[in-house]
Amino acid sequence: MPADRPLNDAELLAALDWYRAAGVDLAVGEQPVDRFAASMPPQRVRPAAASVQAEVPAPAAAPGGDPQETRALAAKAGTLDELRAIMDAYEGCGLKLRATRLCFADGNPEAEIMLVGEAPGSEEDLQGKPFVGKAGQLLDRMLAAIGLDRTKVFIANTVPWRPPGNREPSPEEMALCQPFLFRQIELVAPRILVTLGNVPTKALFSTSVGITRMRGQWKELTLGNHTVRAMPTLHPAYLLRQPASKQLAWRDMLSLKQAIAAEKIVMG
Ligand code: URA
Repeated sequence: MPADRPLNDAELLAALDWYRAAGVDLAVGEQPVDRFAASMPPQRVRPAAASVQAEVPAPAAAPGGDPQETRALAAKAGTLDELRAIMDAYEGCGLKLRATRLCFADGNPEAEIMLVGEAPGSEEDLQGKPFVGKAGQLLDRMLAAIGLDRTKVFIANTVPWRPPGNREPSPEEMALCQPFLFRQIELVAPRILVTLGNVPTKALFSTSVGITRMRGQWKELTLGNHTVRAMPTLHPAYLLRQPASKQLAWRDMLSLKQAIAAEKIVMG
């Protein structure tokens, strides 16, 4: 094809298909954009000395909230429905700008077992439910292998809006959304909690130790006002990329099954 003529429609469609197959699902511009700066809270400008007359205006409202604010908002929720409404109305998290919708949770709010993933991906962003894409289908199979399904577990994510391009949520985004997650945990009050992958494990176990060392180990965690037995396991998306690690995840599932029996959790 001569390099100097514009592509025709068929060629443009073929190029789009090629991008999609390569996993490109986000349009970006020619110029780099500092998304990290955009997600930072607007700087609070203090009036400095009394002699300074003019007030320096705060920078234009970049989305970016304050964890104190999300903590106060989350504390107002007396039910999961109230919490969902509060989170849906919240405008302080930069992730919300690029997301299609809030991805609050899925499963049974009365469940004794809660799973926490990383962040919504593209399917979850469209449907507003965690773990509905390929990783979610594997998660369903992992749960089924030990007699669980979504009527017996409650599933949420570390952040409830999709990070652009499926990047990891930043520490600031996680800190901002943590009060929402902790309130979900308090309101569901599970007896067993499983973190899926590195990101929720680091966040909830307050550790920098990686998932391959943390997985399969039970610890008692106090999250908000709720204390729960918790175990990290490998993320199903990781297992799709590294099928040889499924044997480790299987061990964790068996350990989860034992913990359910030890806690005398009745599965209905
Ligand atoms: N991965 C996650 O961590 N969460 C989801 O909801 C989907 C994929």
